[in-house]
Amino acid sequence: MSVFVLHIALQGCLKGQDVEYGITSDTGGHIRYLLDLVHAHCEALPHDRIVIATRPFSGHGPVYEQPHERVSDQIEIIRLQTQSSDYLTKEELHTQVESFADALCTHIEANGRPDIIHAHYAIAASAAAIIKDRLGIPFVFTGHSLGLVKQSVMGSTVTVSEGFQERIAGEEIALKEASLVVASSRDEAELQYAGYRNYDPGSIRVIPPGSDLAAFKDATVNETVETELGRFLTDPQKPVILAIARPVRRKNLSALVEAFGKSKALQAQANLVLVAGTRTVIDDLDGDMAGSMHELLALIDQYDLYGKIAYPKSHTPADIPAYYAYARDRGGLFANPALNEPFGLTLLEASAAGLPIVATDSGGPNDIVETCGNGLLVDPTDPDSIAEAALRILSSSDLYRQFAEGGTRAVAHYDWKGHVQRYRGLLSDLIEPAVTRPANIGGTGQLLISDIDNTLVGSVPHLHAFGAWRRLQPHLAFGVATGRSFHSAMAVLEQEDVPRPEVMITSVGSEIYHLDENGVTYSLDRDWLAQITEDWDREPVRRVVESVTGITPQAALEQRAFKLSYFSDGSATVVKRVQAALERVGLMASVIHSHRRYLDILPYKASKGTAVEFVRQRYGLRMDSVFVAGDSGNDIEMLRAVPQSIIVANYSDGLAHLPDLKHSYLSRESHARGIMEGVDYFRRKASASCHPVS
Ligand code: GLC
Ligand code: MG
Repeated sequence: MSVFVLHIALQGCLKGQDVEYGITSDTGGHIRYLLDLVHAHCEALPHDRIVIATRPFSGHGPVYEQPHERVSDQIEIIRLQTQSSDYLTKEELHTQVESFADALCTHIEANGRPDIIHAHYAIAASAAAIIKDRLGIPFVFTGHSLGLVKQSVMGSTVTVSEGFQERIAGEEIALKEASLVVASSRDEAELQYAGYRNYDPGSIRVIPPGSDLAAFKDATVNETVETELGRFLTDPQKPVILAIARPVRRKNLSALVEAFGKSKALQAQANLVLVAGTRTVIDDLDGDMAGSMHELLALIDQYDLYGKIAYPKSHTPADIPAYYAYARDRGGLFANPALNEPFGLTLLEASAAGLPIVATDSGGPNDIVETCGNGLLVDPTDPDSIAEAALRILSSSDLYRQFAEGGTRAVAHYDWKGHVQRYRGLLSDLIEPAVTRPANIGGTGQLLISDIDNTLVGSVPHLHAFGAWRRLQPHLAFGVATGRSFHSAMAVLEQEDVPRPEVMITSVGSEIYHLDENGVTYSLDRDWLAQITEDWDREPVRRVVESVTGITPQAALEQRAFKLSYFSDGSATVVKRVQAALERVGLMASVIHSHRRYLDILPYKASKGTAVEFVRQRYGLRMDSVFVAGDSGNDIEMLRAVPQSIIVANYSDGLAHLPDLKHSYLSRESHARGIMEGVDYFRRKASASCHPVS
């Protein structure tokens, strides 16, 4: 099936070639994302057609006034006249939504309907929602950066600024009306969107953007960069701490200058290089860029950093890889101290070029560091911690090497080809929903619920066999039950090409999601939440648990509203000690230990076991129509609760020897094959008892 996608992108100076990044404060990463996406899309699917709809404006060159720009055989940009013909900032663009939507409707009626619309940024979502309403064309949404997040990192000053409420309203519309929301990171999907009224995690999919990292891998220094930096630095051979970001407040470059300025040790070891946009006259810079530049210059002067810091006045896109190479050749590192970084493309580029990274702990960098093991996360508001992290990496050659090697993982993982494969698959599913729901689950149907890590996944050939087997089971509904969050689970399932589950029990049973009619998105089961959360006092529980020795909190992303997660020191008494501490103050919680390492604290009524029972009742299934499979401690409750339970051969936490699990079937095979073996076993057993051999 070939598909016609119409993108809406209204911000910044958008054109098909030689984009002038940084020319206005809205001409940034989202344009790069869009162009990379559409090019990769066309490369993978030469029969698809792509139109990017934007608006014309005057004053920045003739190309932005052209109504039509052909980018390639498959891609064109159309500029539809709106009420104003001036360049408008993203804060002002909301005034054009109505007139843009009118123009786009007329255009579509005259030139043909796209199969789907893809709206970029809040304002485009408001327009797409109007088109959906008038013409019935569904849309997907990419936020790029979110108003609420910006509001919280920038404090109260922006709440009143023009266009802000419209932006947040646009994001609410997107969450409500879009068929699917594409996020770049778990942080975006699970934390950044969580503050919105219309938030439902199941309607969001994390698909990290690819990036053309190959070019950075083989980057070499060029003349321009050598000469340019030579003008600033007294000792240009020293290691370099490199930052590349537009000088806007959110990018927080001043914290980096402060970190460097305050640390004599760091100054002794390294130079600081800030590639902070391109400028002719500072005061002509757009938005808050002029103010940020003045602030940087004042700090440089205050800490007297002359000869130790460089901030080249201009660069071309071609110089960027050369800057990374310059830093790498000198054993330097890359720093991104943004107050919040929705994704963190520069971190991947730097990493691909062979640089360790020091990155903000707010936003996408969490995922990047978890996936690639390429650096340290820091609190961007604490210059001392930035300096400390940089010093740690520069002072240990082992750590340096380990982080530098993370670049190989970055190149392999963050790839546009992979992105497009997943994205385009979801688009076709939305355009032509496949009937994925097994008919009549509640009648003669059966339900299989499996744990993910080390049960369903862990062996690729077994998983492929499982996929093939599963397709031959029209009356078997399939679900997962996992310690992972919804998006963390979805990421592994999609990476491993596991058939989409009809039900997902996530965060160790504290959340349940059901596949929607469209076969793509999921809806959070609020009835389940209502049941388990009655007697859950998260804060007091957290305080008590954290007073127990031998446990440390897992990362912020692993903490959920109804799940607190820690690493334990592995001692056998930890569960008893936590339970005792809670009992002493009259609190109740379910305390679950797995792999002698993970410790999860949940509302008393929540576990994979109670969640499976809830799903069984909701589907109206008999107990003997349900199978569950697991491998470790956090599966015990569900294996215990279900008569037809399967323990895969590669189990841990002594599962096969627990008296409570005597009824379970212990598979000879491991992982996904073990699941199939167990289901077969119970089915044969059931049919034998129906037709006993006399
Ligand atoms: C997953 C979760 C983690 C949890 C563990 C055990 O790894 O990400 O938070 O502790 O499962 O349930
Ligand atoms: Mg497991």
